[in-house]
Amino acid sequence: MGSWKLYFVAVFGFLISHTVVGVDKNNFKTCDQSSFCRRLRKLNPGNSPYELLLDTVSLDKHTLSADIRNNNYNVLFKLNLIALVDGTFRVVIDEKQPLKPRYKVEYVLNGEPTVDKLTVVEKNQNAGTIKVANGQGHSVILHSKPLKFDFFNPQNELVLSLNEKGLTTLEHLRHKPDHPKTDEEKKEDGENNDDNVPELQYQEENDPGAWEENYKSHHDTKPRGPEGLSMDVTFPKATHVYGIPEHADSFALKSTKGQDPYRLYNLDVFEYELDSTMAIYGAVPVAYAHGADGNTVGVFWLNAAETWVDVEAGRSGRADVVSSLVNLVSGSTAPLPSVRFMSESGVLDTFIFMGPSPSDCFRQYTKLTGTANLPQMFALAYHQCRWNYNDEEDVRSVEENFDRNDIPLDVIWLDIEYTDRKKYFTWDAIRFAHPNEMVTNLTSKGRKMVIIIDPHIKREGGYFVHEDATNQGLYVKNKDGKDYEGWCWPGSSSYLDFFDPKVRKYYSERYLLDNFQGTTNDVHIWNDMNEPSVFNGPEITMPKDCIHYGDWEHRHVHNLYGLLQIKGTYEGLMERSKNTRRPFILTRSAFAGTQRYAAVWTGDNAAEWSHLAVTIPMCLSFAISGVSFCGADVGGFFKYPEAELMTRWYQAGAFQPFFRAHSHIDTKRREPYLYDAQTMAHIRDAIRRRYSYLPLWYTLFYEHSISGLPVMRPIFMHFPKETDLFSIDNEYLIGNYLLVRPVTEEGVSSVTVHLPGSSTGEIWYDVDTYQPLQPGKLNQPVTISKIPVYQRGGTIISKKERMRRSSALMANDPYTLIVALSANHTAEGNLYIDDGESFSYKEGKYIYAKLNYQNNVLSYSLIDKHASYPTKAWLERVVIAGMKTPPKKAELRMLATGTSSPLHLTYHTGNDVLVVRKPEVSMAAPWNIVFE
Ligand code: GLC
Repeated sequence: MGSWKLYFVAVFGFLISHTVVGVDKNNFKTCDQSSFCRRLRKLNPGNSPYELLLDTVSLDKHTLSADIRNNNYNVLFKLNLIALVDGTFRVVIDEKQPLKPRYKVEYVLNGEPTVDKLTVVEKNQNAGTIKVANGQGHSVILHSKPLKFDFFNPQNELVLSLNEKGLTTLEHLRHKPDHPKTDEEKKEDGENNDDNVPELQYQEENDPGAWEENYKSHHDTKPRGPEGLSMDVTFPKATHVYGIPEHADSFALKSTKGQDPYRLYNLDVFEYELDSTMAIYGAVPVAYAHGADGNTVGVFWLNAAETWVDVEAGRSGRADVVSSLVNLVSGSTAPLPSVRFMSESGVLDTFIFMGPSPSDCFRQYTKLTGTANLPQMFALAYHQCRWNYNDEEDVRSVEENFDRNDIPLDVIWLDIEYTDRKKYFTWDAIRFAHPNEMVTNLTSKGRKMVIIIDPHIKREGGYFVHEDATNQGLYVKNKDGKDYEGWCWPGSSSYLDFFDPKVRKYYSERYLLDNFQGTTNDVHIWNDMNEPSVFNGPEITMPKDCIHYGDWEHRHVHNLYGLLQIKGTYEGLMERSKNTRRPFILTRSAFAGTQRYAAVWTGDNAAEWSHLAVTIPMCLSFAISGVSFCGADVGGFFKYPEAELMTRWYQAGAFQPFFRAHSHIDTKRREPYLYDAQTMAHIRDAIRRRYSYLPLWYTLFYEHSISGLPVMRPIFMHFPKETDLFSIDNEYLIGNYLLVRPVTEEGVSSVTVHLPGSSTGEIWYDVDTYQPLQPGKLNQPVTISKIPVYQRGGTIISKKERMRRSSALMANDPYTLIVALSANHTAEGNLYIDDGESFSYKEGKYIYAKLNYQNNVLSYSLIDKHASYPTKAWLERVVIAGMKTPPKKAELRMLATGTSSPLHLTYHTGNDVLVVRKPEVSMAAPWNIVFE
């Protein structure tokens, strides 16, 4: 077939199959169709053939080293158990003398982890165990035969075991058995040289896919043969398991018995199926296990190859005594919660997080893989996207319509059609002939633009990127060493090999203002299709036997590809502004460490109620896996959202970290002003709410950047013993301040809200009425304008309530403080302020302040006393909810000057709310308001 015909078939087929129907499962492998998964999963629990050779154990200050032998095959492995700071251990197992090096993941850890001391507590030759301890009270017992690692908390309770089930495997590299082995090779394989001894038959070679594999019309040459690995991790004290995004599934993971394991393999899956363990765009191999005792442990499986994860979970969340009784009566023992990671290749490299609290675990993970840099303020505001805004006139009219209808808007996005026929780093000469003017028009109102750059490069003579890449060898190679060619949006395409530092440099320099005419520092970047997506590739991605820099096959590094693209983009944007502006990047594929460079969105969802509902567990799973900056296409990408769904989606999106509306090119236009007046008003209200809470989002992202704690949080993070809420999918917390329960059901007039904290005497305040509510089940009436959001008693939230066209225009606007009193009449909250865009906060140009209400005094004081920022913003209003007895008067006291002035108070008896009007005090310096 001629190349244009092929292109037509590939692209047209792609569009047809994914605009009309849902996911085509046939395009994606099941575990049984993936040779290593099939092989590894066949293994039954039982005695592991692996033995730790006790007499090889040695210990330096922080690392225990020893040999491990697979007694079935007589192959040796090398173990390193390393103690790290902050309750973390690392276990690395590699072949002692591999035929070739196994792949060891790079680029993911945020620097070399800091080690802690490790000492031997006891070596018991008879029992075949050795016990070691770190400097923080945690200990590990290593069992020699069969190999097992037991991890104990400082109370000496067993909290996690490795290889308890004996499902750990490391398939050693070997010579292909299709030629008689040389004596040398036999020796390398640990076999006897004697010709009378039959060659060792390795079990894995019975699998027909061990040395080459077919999937549909695709052939994988697998030149290195089997090199799979797996490890089981058991959590004796837990009931629930979470993490391993990205899946369109519940937040608490389900047991995979009788179905496919959760799959981690970055794939372009359109209109993905819900309640599914199928792989989609992102793959973050970290899991957490949490129990009724309120404690959490975690495991991070550092592997970038295709990975499947079996899960046992869902024991009763009730006290263990009850389950024990049930077990006693029924004679059965519920399986312990566990995960089992199975990967196609690589070194076994895993981290154990000892917690003990959920927050501890989440921090321990981000300590290794990094946190999101503080975003610019605009990135937290509202984004308007569509595939596509057709031309400059269209962009202008969208913006004007937002203004005409008083709807705040910070960013307009351009999808692939802005380019000259999908050639990235170019503009369509007719429809986008004056990009500079277009961008300036936006930025004059404090707005920004985001444009898309995908990793595939159009193979067209004369296109400079293609010519450079061809001439300088910048493309990923196919198995024969030629530039790999696949099909994507532009038709015939090749893919930049971001693993090569030379390619990353070339790529990042494309973003320099001189190189990318028409852009400015206010044009930010969307990296899509970076799984990578290849329309005619196996499972719509790159063949595994393609070759990257360093001679690694794509198989070894697949899940890292997108990370390296966004790393290149990040470096380019930094260089572009000479390190003065914080880059904003959106990525579709994600891996461990993605948070350091980009925000993520949940890809091509659909305008359906179920897709709205799943945004919560999907973003929560990302949040606890380091990626706080997550959102979903508001309104749904495919199909058209009618008024009610659209309204509810905006209301939900307004309370999720990344807030962007987006839609497919073939769907009806749906900018908010195109709906009926009432619907538009509800949407406007939702967007305005988002803007009013921007100071809170900004403060939480600042705190995330220094603490690693998620911004969007599962209930169990702050209420770790509320077992009833361990599996809740439709509620979450924003920081420790707000509980959000978006309406994700059609046509309802009330929803059930679970307010946690009965044992701690919490109070929650409905943010619309300030009505105090007790913990427990609440039947919340919901009109179409109601967004069920509750402020936690004991917190103070800083808001900005004057509406403007964009967040930049709000910079000097005054604050309103919402003080929600706890049962004992106290409250506190933090506020972070800076210029919203530059890095000067790193030089101390910011305010990080504490607001505290206690003993009738509301105080504003600096947490970081060395820092300051000359904000023009001032305090306009204080609302105190839960004030049972109103004070008679109040006085503002300036701490620096000692001056004071009386304040005007209004008390609302109906709901016990006190309002302090116009304190008119600057937020640049500390003050107190004293009530009497
Ligand atoms: C992919 C993206 C989608 C985008 C489209 C065209 O499907 O997920 O958001 O609009 O490509 O670039």
